[in-house]
This record gives sequence, C-alpha cells and structure tokens, in this order.
Amino acid sequence: MTLRIDVITLFPGLFPGPLAESIPGRALSRGLAQLRARDLREWGLGRHRSVDDYPYGGGAGMVLRPEPIAAALDAIDPLADTGTPHARRILFDPGGRLFDQALARELAGEQHLVLVCPRYEGVDDRVRALVDLELSIGDYVLSGGELPALVLIDAVLRLLPGAIDEASPIEESFSEGLLEYPQFTRPAEFGGVRVPDVLVSGHHAEVARWRADQSLARTRRVRPDLLDALPGWYTPPPTPRLSPRRTGAHGRTPTSTSTPEADSE
Ligand SMILES: C[S@@+](CC[C@H](N)C(=O)[O-])C[C@H]1O[C@@H](n2cnc3c(N)ncnc32)[C@H](O)[C@@H]1O
Repeated sequence: MTLRIDVITLFPGLFPGPLAESIPGRALSRGLAQLRARDLREWGLGRHRSVDDYPYGGGAGMVLRPEPIAAALDAIDPLADTGTPHARRILFDPGGRLFDQALARELAGEQHLVLVCPRYEGVDDRVRALVDLELSIGDYVLSGGELPALVLIDAVLRLLPGAIDEASPIEESFSEGLLEYPQFTRPAEFGGVRVPDVLVSGHHAEVARWRADQSLARTRRVRPDLLDALPGWYTPPPTPRLSPRRTGAHGRTPTSTSTPEADSE
C-alpha cells in the first residue's frame, strides 16, 4: 500500500527538499509513499489569488484566511467521496500536541495524510475545526509549517515497511520508550577511550544484555521523564551486570568507566 501525503503550502518548492535524499528519497522512489506539495494560492481568492488578510482587532502581521484552506482540503480530501476513507488532516501550530515517535508510528499506518503548513501569524482560528490534529515539533517558533512537515514526513517514511532494515526501527530511540544504547565503530580506541570489550566478545546474548542495560541507564541519566512516562505495567529489560573478569576478543578488560556514553548501573 502506498501512503499518500499531500502538503498544502505557499512554498511548494521546499518539497521534497531533504526528503529527496537517503532513506526518505528511497522510500519515495520505491513507491512506498507518494508526496505532493500543493500550492495554497491555487485556491486563493480573486484575481491576485489572495490567501491572507489583516487580523481583526489589529496587531502585527497577516493571518491566513479560512476559505482557501477549506477549498484546498475539500479538493484534496473530499469528504463526500464515499468509499475512500477521510484523510488524517494535520495543521502545524506551536500550540499543538507535541509530535513524537508513537504518533509517527500511528501515522505510518494511515492511507492518506494532508498536512497544512501555515505562514505569517498563522491561520484564522476557524481552520482548526477543519483538521483532525494540531501538531507542534517543539517549544519554539519557526517561520512556517514546512519544516515541521518535513520533520514529520521523514519520521513517518522511515517507518514504512521496506524503507529500512526491519530491525532498525525496533531498536531505535523511543521505540520501546527508552533511548538507544551507545554505538561504536572503528577505531577500537579513540581519544584514549576503548570500545567496551563486550561488543567485540562475540557473545550475542551478552551484547544484547549490555545494550539493554546501557539503554536503560542512559535514559535514566539524560531523559528520566521518559521512564516516568512508561505505563505502570512496564518492566524495563533485565539489566544483569557482566562479569568484571571477562575479557574481550582482544584480551582487554572492560572499560565502561572510560567510555563517555557508557553508563554503569
Ligand atoms: C511565525 S509562526 C506563527 C506563530 C504564531 N503567531 C504563534 O505565536 O503561535 C507561522 C507558522 O509556523 C508554524 N510553526 C511555527 N513554529 C512551529 C512549531 N514549533 N511547531 C509546529 N509548527 C510551527 C505554524 O504553522 C505557524 O502557524
């Protein structure tokens, strides 16, 4: 199944932008999703295809009028079209629900997403009634909804079946409510810090235990709020200590205390 994504924007040239490369680029070229940027001015009013106006009550900046957005939504996602499920309509807004991995996973299961990207001072408040979800990507103000849309689309595309190695999203940060364990590659020693011996030991079960242990410890250290958010019935993965006498494939002793990201519980 192909996920259809329509983006309503005043700057369609910003798409696909970074989504043309790497994992999202491959997901799009493989047909896992179809991305279309729609120019809001197509539904603009009058000869000048106007989409904005001054705010009632005065104040700085311009506000996007509701009619062009309503017309764009009707054209892209006609509610009267029986047999086709209504798209998930999303409006980007700094006051919206914070976008997270759980929501990315949920959206990756949809058939059709319509993303509304406001500019200027935002939208006329009556637009909120036309969407299913208002989303924020963090407590800061950007110039428009396009960057949040790119963020959302990237996060969703990599979760589509066939986009990346099946195991990757399972082990990534947030997938089990925890951050990912520390990762290492060559060289075996850098800046006076050696790769923990367990990772070169060849003992898959011990590597898995070390990673579970580190994942929990790192989350506890840098994002304890994630642990608080876990459901009451959740049992963190077992975190057995490794034998301190075990040596790795290169005969080195474990060096977890000299590894910056590796926590000892
Ligand atoms: C300059 S902002 C408008 C800010 C608005 N006047 C306010 O104070 O909340 C223009 C648009 O960028 C988008 N935007 C800005 N920051 C965002 C964020 N953190 N998350 C999601 N969308 C954001 C929203 O669509 C917003 O309407």
